[in-house]
Amino acid sequence: MFDFKYFTPTKVVFGKNTEAKVADLIKEFGGTKILIHYGGGSVVRSGLLKRVTDTLDAAGISYVTLGGAVPNPHLGLVYEGIELCKKENVDFLLAVGGGSAIDSAKAIGYGVANGGDVWDFYDYKRKAEGCLPLGVILTIAATGSEMSDSSVITKEEGLVKRGYSSDFSRAKFAIMNPELTMTLPDYQTACGCTDIMMHTMERYFTNGGNMEITDALAEGLLRTVKKNAIILRDDPQNYDARAEVMWAGSLAHNGLTGCGNDGGDWMTHKLEHELGGLYDVAHGAGLAAIWGSWARYVYKDCLPRFKKFALNVMEVENSGTDEEIALKGIEAMEDFYRSINMPTNLRKLGVNANEKDLVVMAHKCAVGVGGEMGSAKVLNEQAMLDIYRASM
Ligand code: NZQ
Ligand code: ZN
Repeated sequence: MFDFKYFTPTKVVFGKNTEAKVADLIKEFGGTKILIHYGGGSVVRSGLLKRVTDTLDAAGISYVTLGGAVPNPHLGLVYEGIELCKKENVDFLLAVGGGSAIDSAKAIGYGVANGGDVWDFYDYKRKAEGCLPLGVILTIAATGSEMSDSSVITKEEGLVKRGYSSDFSRAKFAIMNPELTMTLPDYQTACGCTDIMMHTMERYFTNGGNMEITDALAEGLLRTVKKNAIILRDDPQNYDARAEVMWAGSLAHNGLTGCGNDGGDWMTHKLEHELGGLYDVAHGAGLAAIWGSWARYVYKDCLPRFKKFALNVMEVENSGTDEEIALKGIEAMEDFYRSINMPTNLRKLGVNANEKDLVVMAHKCAVGVGGEMGSAKVLNEQAMLDIYRASM
């Protein structure tokens, strides 16, 4: 077991109509001039944005709005947001939406608080020394960005998708009303469930220290999301299932399921980020498309964990060699992806990459991780290329 730091400063306000508390929460955390940041318009169509601005108007809180954060959010809009905040003397950010709006807001917050070019942080050239305070109203259970320390931005030039993590960006509050996720397309609900599970699986498949309590939490979380993803496939308006998945999304990525281990593997995420940057695929679907190839490439180097996963999460029959059980677990996971209409290879994801594209992705991925990375198995550029090839 490793020593660890667990820091979750976000005040969570969970349940029906909790968005009505947004003005009180902003006041509690000292916000006086707000930038409301959102995505491509779902919050306009659902009426949520109007409810939020009405609440702020009634409370006498002034604000400006900036929409347009796209999935795999762009650096260009981040720059625009930074300028707007400076011009309007914004002192608090409110992200209304999913991981893309939240991550874009975090980047804006870094840009305002630190000066200089905000991309430096994502390019590992500088470390942030602060971030504007941020509140969140979450509309999709997926990334866990509402409680995580990370933000993922795509630079349009070169289509470079990179993440930056620091505790400064952790949200002051997160409003989570499961009902707000009921307008999601089924595909996005399934992408979200996939991402949630992957945040815990990345921390689970390690060769570096483990704790029984962390494993129990992780396995329970994975079983819960797996079960409720199927419920939501058949009954998208099921409030309890929406709530289970929404809370799991936060717990999967706020650090809880990594306590005591080496921090996780994270290579499925790194391999996916290249797909997201280049092909603009939905993050969760990209993860599902790559995971099976990654798992088959690494499982022999992390066999006890793959066996435990097969038995305790995928609940496969405990018969055969350890390798056979591990492989049955990987197959069962892919069956699960198929059952919620997630792709299990790049073609099914809609990516028709040729050999040259795969070489470029593997190279960018290797550069992005500083050469090699992984805990289940350390992967170098050649290994990354082999996994991309296998996932075609
Ligand atoms: O943009 P709008 O119009 O709001 O539509 C969104 C978008 O098209 C839509 N949507 C969201 N809530 C909705 C809704 N549609 C109807 N009803 C609702 N209630 O769903 C689509 C996806 O939204 P997005 O915010 O892009 O999804 P997600 O939360 O999955 O975020 C994905 C981004 O987060 C990054 C991903 O790489 C990707 O860029 N990640 C961020 C992490 C973090 N900050 O901790 C960790 C993750 O591993 C991930 O990398
Ligand atoms: Zn993710």
